Amino acid sequence: PGTMVGEASGRPLDVALEGLGRLEYRGYDSAGVALVAPGVDAVAFAKKSGKLANLVEEIDLHPLPAATASIGHTRWATHGGPTDTNAHPHLADDDRLAVIHNGIVENFATLKSELLAEGVQFRSETDTEVAAQLLARAYRQTKDLTLAMGQVARRLEGTFTLLAVHADAPDTVVGARHDSPLVVGLGEGENFLGSDVAAFISHTKEALELGQDQIVTITPTSVEVTDFDGNPAEAKRYTVDWDAAAAEKGGFSSFMDKEIHDQPHAVADTLLGRTDPSGKLVLDDLRIDEAVLRSVDKIIVVACGTAAYSGHVAKYAIEHWCRIPVEVELAHEFRYRDPIVDEKTLVVAVTQSGETMDTLMAVRHAREQGAKVISIVNTHGSTIPRESDAVLYTHAGPEIAVASTKAFLSQITAAYLLGLYLAQLRGNKFPDEISAILEDLRDMPRKIQTVIERGEYVRATARSMKDATSVLFLGRHVGFPVALEGALKLKELAYIHAEGFAAGELKHGPIALIDEGQPVFVVVPSPKGREGLHSKVISNIQEIRARGARTLVIAEDGDDAVRPYADEIFWVPESPTLLSPLLAVVPLQIFAMALATAKGLDVDQPRNLAKSVTVE
Ligand code: G6P
Repeated sequence: PGTMVGEASGRPLDVALEGLGRLEYRGYDSAGVALVAPGVDAVAFAKKSGKLANLVEEIDLHPLPAATASIGHTRWATHGGPTDTNAHPHLADDDRLAVIHNGIVENFATLKSELLAEGVQFRSETDTEVAAQLLARAYRQTKDLTLAMGQVARRLEGTFTLLAVHADAPDTVVGARHDSPLVVGLGEGENFLGSDVAAFISHTKEALELGQDQIVTITPTSVEVTDFDGNPAEAKRYTVDWDAAAAEKGGFSSFMDKEIHDQPHAVADTLLGRTDPSGKLVLDDLRIDEAVLRSVDKIIVVACGTAAYSGHVAKYAIEHWCRIPVEVELAHEFRYRDPIVDEKTLVVAVTQSGETMDTLMAVRHAREQGAKVISIVNTHGSTIPRESDAVLYTHAGPEIAVASTKAFLSQITAAYLLGLYLAQLRGNKFPDEISAILEDLRDMPRKIQTVIERGEYVRATARSMKDATSVLFLGRHVGFPVALEGALKLKELAYIHAEGFAAGELKHGPIALIDEGQPVFVVVPSPKGREGLHSKVISNIQEIRARGARTLVIAEDGDDAVRPYADEIFWVPESPTLLSPLLAVVPLQIFAMALATAKGLDVDQPRNLAKSVTVE
């Protein structure tokens, strides 16, 4: 998989390279472009392993000819390593046809042996080249790229978006979509395709959202959508409300730094416009009968990575407010363990991208079993909200840095809203109790801002620890998922071994890891919160300190009880315990970013990761 852009007319190479630049964060182990122009026999192309800059350098050295249509791709390898040869585009039909692909063709081995038996020669190890060769064969029979694409799409199993250009049709790009994202941008005398609107947002904000199993054919002046059999099909038109500037760094040293600073806004935007004139909470795109929501007897949150930790926070809040049992499950584990799901189960899918394949498959499985699905999603026009019964958009704006920060805070916020919505609907809470919690929530952006303003002390501590090889994180109650997220951030950004533990679990094993100087972050709950919680965590700090740990403590302003046991204290404003993750995680994000920066690492594009993982 990877990302792709296609463009017909105008300045195809520039548009393709710019679009790839905007999407590069989603996967970036190689990149390539293909161009077609009238009167030429073969597709012109360039492809290179490594980041997009390598491709640009290659094109500077060996310029490509003028063209009328282009396709471009950045790759995140699945079948075949990240080499120049395995990079997309893949060519066929005597180099008259070029194809790029996202997703995985699962039956590629069968198809490849069929083609090999016919004498087709392959240049790469990719599943994509199989699609290219099949398309060449279908084109030779049909002489129509759109029809040929439909025939190929029907034969492929797995997930895919394919884009193709052919030297015979120099003003045309054809795309097919099955379970991988593809959007159309509608311009004046030019049209665009992209795996995300960010690919063409500087050229147009008018877009078409393609449905599953559709083929789109664009020329400079036309856009035609069909199903795989060639019958005309409908695609939904909409206007993109993000501007290009929102996807730029805005003066910060990295997207991550910008996104950490965006967090007060992100949380405020998640909260915006959530009540109707009567003060009642409302969800977006609600396609579930309220009576069904009232009868829900179990909630299962499915998500991956950081989004899953927001689900852990949701569990504490929703169980407390709604008295409904909540399970949190990694989406990829959920489907394959035969989970107990029925009409009374509400599945909540949390995802920034709305495209994570593991999460999408969990959503489909849940719905097949009769469950209702509400998704908490940041990216409009993505697949998971379309396949859910209701959506709560997080409105955090585009998140570019691969490791998630602002999306996490807004996912937690949206989960609180969902909990309050259910509590309201089911009568678990009085309206004035809900308004009081909402009031506390509305005060959180200001407090998050305060934590960010105190960031320099965290950064200085991080710089002094740049040679650390292992860092542990402890928390209890909602502080536990915060500890898990703090450890994940450090692994993702600084490539340091880091682990998060429930503070109470330490004594049952992990305490053996503690020796002289071992850095341990401890998330200390509010002393005004739940009875006994604070003092238990203070005991846990004493236990590790007695064994030589260096303790880095996140504590609430005024909590003097922690002072004797802390080597460093990162203070956060007071807040109700259930809402405190929105504050406590921020110093951990800043710490991971600053430590990675001190090590000279690229915090926006950590090695081996991708922003949106569209394979299982
Ligand atoms: C990838 C990213 C993580 C992210 C996870 C879930 O693994 O690298 O940062 O948390 O996917 O992504 P989602 O878009 O579903 O929230």
